[in-house]
Amino acid sequence: MCGIIGYIGDKKASEILISGLSHLEYRGYDSSGVALCCDDKTYIYKAQGKLNNLVEVLKTKEDICSKATKGIGHIRWATHGLPTTLNAHPHTCNCKNFTLVHNGIIENYQELKEELLSYGCIFQSQTDTEVAAHLIAHEYGKTHDLLKAMQNAVKKIKGAFAFCAIHNNEPDKIVVAKRNAPLIIGVGEGENFIASDIPAIIEYTKKAIYLSDYQVGVVKKDSIQIYDDNGNLVINKVEHLPFEAMAISKMGYKHFMLKEIHEQSDVVRNVLSGKLIGHDNKINLDEFKLTQEKIKNITRVQIIACGTSLHAGLVGKYIIEKFANIPTDVEPSSEYIYRDTIADENTLVIGISQSGETADTITAIKQVKEKNAHIAIITNRADSTMARLADSLLPVNAGIEVSVAATKSYMAQLISLYMLAIYLMENKGITKFDNEIKKIKQELIELPNKIEALLENTDNIQKIAKKYSSYKDFIFIARGINFPSALEGALKLKEISYINATGYGAGELKHGPIAMLDENMPVLAILNSGIVYDKVLSNCEEARARQAKLIGVADYIADKDKDLFDDLIIIPPVCDLLSPALNIVVLQLLAYYIAEYLGKDVDQPRNLAKSVTVE
Ligand code: AGP
Repeated sequence: MCGIIGYIGDKKASEILISGLSHLEYRGYDSSGVALCCDDKTYIYKAQGKLNNLVEVLKTKEDICSKATKGIGHIRWATHGLPTTLNAHPHTCNCKNFTLVHNGIIENYQELKEELLSYGCIFQSQTDTEVAAHLIAHEYGKTHDLLKAMQNAVKKIKGAFAFCAIHNNEPDKIVVAKRNAPLIIGVGEGENFIASDIPAIIEYTKKAIYLSDYQVGVVKKDSIQIYDDNGNLVINKVEHLPFEAMAISKMGYKHFMLKEIHEQSDVVRNVLSGKLIGHDNKINLDEFKLTQEKIKNITRVQIIACGTSLHAGLVGKYIIEKFANIPTDVEPSSEYIYRDTIADENTLVIGISQSGETADTITAIKQVKEKNAHIAIITNRADSTMARLADSLLPVNAGIEVSVAATKSYMAQLISLYMLAIYLMENKGITKFDNEIKKIKQELIELPNKIEALLENTDNIQKIAKKYSSYKDFIFIARGINFPSALEGALKLKEISYINATGYGAGELKHGPIAMLDENMPVLAILNSGIVYDKVLSNCEEARARQAKLIGVADYIADKDKDLFDDLIIIPPVCDLLSPALNIVVLQLLAYYIAEYLGKDVDQPRNLAKSVTVE
């Protein structure tokens, strides 16, 4: 979603702002803008569409770009008002002395706007951000102090915000504030940075201060001062940023998505490292903070997540119920919020999120935290808002995921859920699966090699992708533990190719979706050699009888059944319970190559954002 960058120092601000914004592009956006300061004046440049459009505008402003050593920048993902140049940030006030960029949503913007209109404020855009700009500028009119103006204004604002503000009368500073939206201050020498996410500044500094909710900061080129909501000066720890600049390079791959798909074997090794040491040992999960006694008392598990993370949660339900014998519900966070959910101190709530910043999931977690449930967070961002809400933080350490379509983070979430399910089982003293678990642990150890074997030869998948890339609709079917694989495979395809793809439990096909089947609706069936093989095969027969083209994804297909399929993708042999981790690699690749043949913007699909920070 939206992204913020700010710079104050001696270097060319325009270059740092554009480079920072380019590293936030992956989050999804529809317009961009910068404000550059020199000679006690502020120059605002904006453009609709890709960041390159803004770069082209700046090429014509070389005089300003060469002089400005302070500036703020933004990429916008439209919430209030169309994705136009006018609505792009930065926004300003009547006198144009004050300039603001903003991430988040001002919930009471209508009310504030009416008040500001009565003071004579003139609005140019349809955005909620412009209301905040006028409000802070109005407070400045009373205080003549940017810090005080920000402190007064944020008290009147309801909603979520990360603000980065400048005023022509105070050229030596940038003032920042945040509530329920991330903002960090990158610490440099003789220069400082501001960003909504680490990739924007990682090439310049590895030291940063995380601003907390309700704090306001004054950033100068050689000092940073932070104030709490009572106006007291506070000291925030300077933290070491966990990423290498290398992590945001494509490393020779055409797209980040393809690179991230190929990183999955190492991702599995990372998650297993230190937790699974040989198939005879118990799972070691120090990060999980519930005592054995409390684990035995867990009466229910609730998994809350969105999108791909939700699909990982559905696999989690299957294995937690099977091994740990605890009733498990999985629900999209956006629905969980609006139910009178039942939870108490014996409830384990598992929040899953790649970004750790998904607004729906944060709200759901905050809501259930009040009921004293134990909150475990599985996230790729140990520095995120969600991580800070965790009683048990289970970081998946998949490395930064740049492609909007999640791939390696899904893999990391799956493996973490296997670890957690087996850990719960072992701590509850359940022994009846001992032999099966030994086999699964051994297969988990072998999984990275199998993923690598699959990735070594993708010719067949590429050929099939090309053959089916002109279809407009797709159905994915599976049963049991692979039902979520069908949902996730369909989600990947629609996200990056815009083909209408839907995942169904294979048994549900005949209860409605079968009506859509004909030669124009390919069906992709996931059939592993486990308990549901024969049943999914019957569902494939039903599809075939309606002339649907059939693609099978399986670790084994009996010779007698092969003719049923138009195309087959065979994965390395794997036990049924671990098969989602291999099947998904095939489905990710299929989606990738279809989108690639169609010439789509694979890493930044239209309308999507990497981290969805609005409810
Ligand atoms: C995944 O490909 C999607 N971009 C999306 O569904 C994503 O999984 C969802 O928005 C949840 O994000 P999170 O994992 O960061 O919470």
